[in-house]
Amino acid sequence: MSPGRLEGKVAIVTGAGSQLDDGVGNGRAAAILFAREGARVMLADRKLSAAEATLRMICDENPAAEVEALEADVTSDTDCRLMVERALARWGRLDILDNNVGIGIGGSVVDVTEDDWDMVMRVNVKSMMLASKHAVPAMAASGGGAIVNISSIAAMRPSRLTPYATSKGAVISLTRAMAIDHARDGIRVNCIAPGPVYTPMVYAGGMPGELREQRRRASPLGVEGTGWDVGYAALFLVSDEARYVTGVVLPVDGGVSITGPGRR
Ligand SMILES: NC(=O)c1ccc[n+]([C@@H]2O[C@H](COP(=O)([O-])OP(=O)(O)OC[C@H]3O[C@@H](n4cnc5c(N)ncnc54)[C@H](O)[C@@H]3O)[C@@H](O)[C@H]2O)c1
Repeated sequence: MSPGRLEGKVAIVTGAGSQLDDGVGNGRAAAILFAREGARVMLADRKLSAAEATLRMICDENPAAEVEALEADVTSDTDCRLMVERALARWGRLDILDNNVGIGIGGSVVDVTEDDWDMVMRVNVKSMMLASKHAVPAMAASGGGAIVNISSIAAMRPSRLTPYATSKGAVISLTRAMAIDHARDGIRVNCIAPGPVYTPMVYAGGMPGELREQRRRASPLGVEGTGWDVGYAALFLVSDEARYVTGVVLPVDGGVSITGPGRR
């Protein structure tokens, strides 16, 4: 058997669980794919049982997989520090960080409460800064690494989710700034902008069939996106195959972001 694409590497995935134990979101898909390709993976989630469900999925596939479920709230500086320390203590290095955690808050600037605005910025943007603050020195000490930040096409095509869209725009700016800051440490920083993918984040609360169909049809391909599509993009960006790729925003959206009125 040929070695996996991430053989020998150590990864942290934040939000590696999912809102539903049997669902596959962007974080869970990435964690599973990283492990399949030979990475040792720290599965960090605010909800330990969600991370443990991912661990079971991975170990069911491969009982020899080296993975650990960790309870960590990435809006906490302490938890982010402990998350990185735990990966280093267990595996002695850090190569990959998938900053996947994000929440959706809708409304306009008129509708949104100050508390909700602060929360979406804290969960979607500050968390990535905090996780990276601790991960970057560990990666630099390991000889380099790769970070992938999960944004959204809502950053480019806002649709009545102004707080969310603003936070995801900040994720793009953060990605580009970090890509410059840490390039000479051998750390690549890229960003994925998922489109309307069908993950527990959007269907856990119940999604009418009509809306699901509308989201599918939004793609010129007429194909419904899943967490796996985002996971495979993350796998490419963190692998050595992307060694010459940094600071990019990769839409994974079935072409939604290239459509215009009346175009499909
Ligand atoms: N599904 C979509 O259509 C879509 C589109 C664009 C972008 N995204 C982005 O994808 C990312 C999430 O994807 P997912 O499918 O994995 O979601 P998910 O809901 O399946 O899983 C998110 C996980 O994050 C955990 N979490 C939430 N807050 C946390 C915190 N503060 N600290 C640690 N863990 C926390 C949750 O417990 C959950 O297990 C988000 O950044 C989201 O904005 C999704």
